[in-house]
Amino acid sequence: MLEGVALGRGINFGNALEAAAEGEAGFRLERRYFEMVKAVGFDTVRLPVRWSLHTASEPPYEIEPAFLERVDWAIAAALGAGLKPVVNWHFYPELCEGVAGHQRRFLAVWQTLAERFAPLPADVHLELLNEPYSMTPESWNALVARALAVVRQSDAARGVIIGPLDWNNIGSLDVLDIPSDDHVLVTVHYYEPMEFTHQGAHWVSDRDLPEGTRWDVEHGGPAVARDLDKASEWARRRGVPLFIGEFGVYEKAQMGDRAAWTECVRAEAERRGASWAYWDFGTDFGAYDCRSDSWRAPLRDALLGTQGA
Ligand code: BGC
Repeated sequence: MLEGVALGRGINFGNALEAAAEGEAGFRLERRYFEMVKAVGFDTVRLPVRWSLHTASEPPYEIEPAFLERVDWAIAAALGAGLKPVVNWHFYPELCEGVAGHQRRFLAVWQTLAERFAPLPADVHLELLNEPYSMTPESWNALVARALAVVRQSDAARGVIIGPLDWNNIGSLDVLDIPSDDHVLVTVHYYEPMEFTHQGAHWVSDRDLPEGTRWDVEHGGPAVARDLDKASEWARRRGVPLFIGEFGVYEKAQMGDRAAWTECVRAEAERRGASWAYWDFGTDFGAYDCRSDSWRAPLRDALLGTQGA
């Protein structure tokens, strides 16, 4: 555990509970994955969850009971392994692109979740919305304040994670209002330079990012330090813990470069007292190879040092 740091070292169980159907993206949660993650030295597991696909579109916005139970199971598996689970709301483009029409549903789901999870230990953290975009700063700040108030009705001290617009971009922290609350953390995602981390990624549609882009710490390290300085300075001034909730490199980059970038971001985050969660565990950015059932040693060591070997 990183001393005094809220969430410590984490990893994202991405492409499971936010997939159109769990397993469809090639990854299903298993209890042993939680145990393995703990055994190599992680403290936290972030669980991306796509609530919008499992919630009725009309009031009272019922969430599918079987899906809720699956999320309960995942939270219990994390806690049982000694990990801190972060449960988020992953992907809600209809909300981002039309907040007025979806706000009631969004708040109703958070009310349900906050009530349901209120008896759980403080290690369980809630993240209001992954990578908000398209909304104005005024709409997003107002929505954050409302959603936090909804959570606080049933849970006074739950850790709640909030991030800036533009896909949790550090550059948008300046227009984020952090509510005054003792149990709020700020999150940012870090994938700079995109030309390197997302080379060959088919979902980055507005730009063509060719494969073959290299990265090394001598040339790239100073920019990482500058960017994380900005985030940590922002968080320090507001007195909120900083959580780098996603960072990672897509599998099309060279493994040596992926490991060098990952180690650099991880070390710079820790130097500034920030918690972090690598994206991701078991799919296309994966530190773990689910097909061969083994860690990708260069990535695991970049994240944890060699003690997990
Ligand atoms: C998305 C993933 C994507 C990752 C890196 C995450 O927020 O949910 O689909 O692979 O970011 O781009």
